[in-house]
Amino acid sequence: MKQTASVACYFLLLALSSGAASGLTNQAMPTAHTAPQSLPLPPTYVALDFGHLVGIPGFSATLLSNHFKLYQGYVNNVNTLLAEQRELLKAGQQATPVYAELKRRLGWEFNGMRLHELYFGNMGGTTPINTNSALYTALVRDFGSFEQWKNDFLATGRMRGIGWAVLYKDPVTGRLLNMWINEHEANHPAGAVPLLVMDVFEHAFMTDYQLDRASYLDAFFKTINWPVVESRF
Ligand SMILES: [Fe+2]
Repeated sequence: MKQTASVACYFLLLALSSGAASGLTNQAMPTAHTAPQSLPLPPTYVALDFGHLVGIPGFSATLLSNHFKLYQGYVNNVNTLLAEQRELLKAGQQATPVYAELKRRLGWEFNGMRLHELYFGNMGGTTPINTNSALYTALVRDFGSFEQWKNDFLATGRMRGIGWAVLYKDPVTGRLLNMWINEHEANHPAGAVPLLVMDVFEHAFMTDYQLDRASYLDAFFKTINWPVVESRF
């Protein structure tokens, strides 16, 4: 009797699998206790094209094209990590060291991707900040003057180590904060909105400026796309 039930079960599974392969819809299939025949795939990340930045003053085409390749690597790794985690989860391997390490890595790769998009996105400007803008008013309110804010932002970018200087808006109070981000993932204020993002990993400037980070910061400041920054505010 048990053997008969097993055989029946086998043929039911066979029928279900052949039905899926032949493209039958769920309506034609038994629905109770069966998994959906086709789940939508999760979105994947696609690298954005920042080629319009080639030619901006202070940044060689070599530096920029290498930096774009590095950014594309982060996008690829985010997709790879997410796909690998999904496979491990399906295989019941979520309590393994491999799974845990992939989880740890995801924050680094994801923020490496997103911070570069924000960084390239706030470059290529040709005009100074609009002194009548709400952003300018908030910078003066929170730092005393625009120059004071700039001094603090550049001092943040000059800190030893690799990472990012980011001007954040805390949406709870509206206060603006200059933050040092260690590598890609440490020290982000929770829930805050990144307005202006500056890469201070050495790959961002060594090709053109060697160890002269101050000159890179100067070149970056001149190319800030203030309308973009204001729109994020
Ligand atoms: Fe970078």
